[in-house]
Amino acid sequence: MKVKVAINGYGVIGRRVADAVSKQDDMELVGVCKVSPDYKALLALSKGFKVFAADDKGVEKFRKMELPVSGTVSDMVKEADIIVDATPGDVGPQNKEMYAKASKKAIFQGGEEHELTGFSFVAQCNYNQALGKQFVRVVSCNTTGLCRVLNALDNRFGVEKARVVIARRAADPDEIGRGPIDAVVLDPVTLPSHHGPDVKTVLSHINITTMALKVPTTHMHLHSLIVQLKDKSVYAEKVREVFRHTPRILLVNSKLGIKSTAHAYDLGREIGRERSDIFENIIWEDSITIEDSELYFFMGVHQEAIVVPENIDAIRAMFNLESAEKSIEKTNRSLEVKSSLT
Ligand SMILES: NC(=O)c1ccc[n+]([C@@H]2O[C@H](COP(=O)([O-])OP(=O)(O)OC[C@H]3O[C@@H](n4cnc5c(N)ncnc54)[C@H](OP(=O)(O)O)[C@@H]3O)[C@@H](O)[C@H]2O)c1
Repeated sequence: MKVKVAINGYGVIGRRVADAVSKQDDMELVGVCKVSPDYKALLALSKGFKVFAADDKGVEKFRKMELPVSGTVSDMVKEADIIVDATPGDVGPQNKEMYAKASKKAIFQGGEEHELTGFSFVAQCNYNQALGKQFVRVVSCNTTGLCRVLNALDNRFGVEKARVVIARRAADPDEIGRGPIDAVVLDPVTLPSHHGPDVKTVLSHINITTMALKVPTTHMHLHSLIVQLKDKSVYAEKVREVFRHTPRILLVNSKLGIKSTAHAYDLGREIGRERSDIFENIIWEDSITIEDSELYFFMGVHQEAIVVPENIDAIRAMFNLESAEKSIEKTNRSLEVKSSLT
């Protein structure tokens, strides 16, 4: 039996999760819901996806544009076993009521508060705790990236304290209305940024402080990490070895000319990924340094893509379809997630 998955919200995240769902042999895409009858709706139809409107007025708008529409979001919910809600942050609470009334499972994204579901998910950290749950929140892109690496370091060496400075992309590539154009914005000025507390919704025992600033770029976030490890005998090569064996982490080297987020993003194009997506944490292996028993490294996070595999694994966990290891492996194979460049 295939799990019937509907996608509510077909923007940056929803479009990618819809494509990823269509690649799974244990899932079936019911359709996607959009507010506007625009080119994204037209292209969804051209892929053979059913498109639903947010409400009756939306159905009229689609018809006026002569775009076939399969009904409203309520019709889509009826047909689904689970809804991946990828609407903008804060729309989730009202949608959750609709899913609960229809007795359906749902996954929300990182723009929603942890309290909406009371459970925040990163596959490598807490897959087993999601087994059978009705509502799950997949954490944001930066939190996903941080949880993957801190969990790997903590399991192997013990994390005493992590300090992270995040240079955040100011906007996604198609967000023409957002700046800054020529500024670095302290986001926020007062510490900590929300990322550290958000990591604790998944890894409650990790001691972490984060600060963030927005920079005028659209393609990636860049994290500078300083981590105190409990094991004081660690050297850089040991850390590289752990990362090499951690799923969804890709080590790159500046000696190969990868010296910026632009180069990291270009990798996505070179390896032929749809939309240049990078599902992996990009870690510069030659930045991995131990100084005075503290670990330093740089890490890139492709905000549009990194949470996509987590949504797929969350679906499997909520329907108890596979073990964590098997699900991660299956998702990675279907999305061609890499553990090395070659
Ligand atoms: N973008 C990122 O980098 C990123 C990374 C990780 C997590 N997230 C999280 O993922 C979620 C979605 O973000 P996104 O960037 O994908 O958003 P987005 O690109 O703005 O897409 C939102 C989608 O939801 C639809 N929508 C808008 N208002 C709605 C409403 N009131 N009810 C139902 N649907 C509505 C939009 O329809 P139309 O297209 O028709 O307008 C659009 O398809 C947020 O929680 C966000 O924090 C985003």
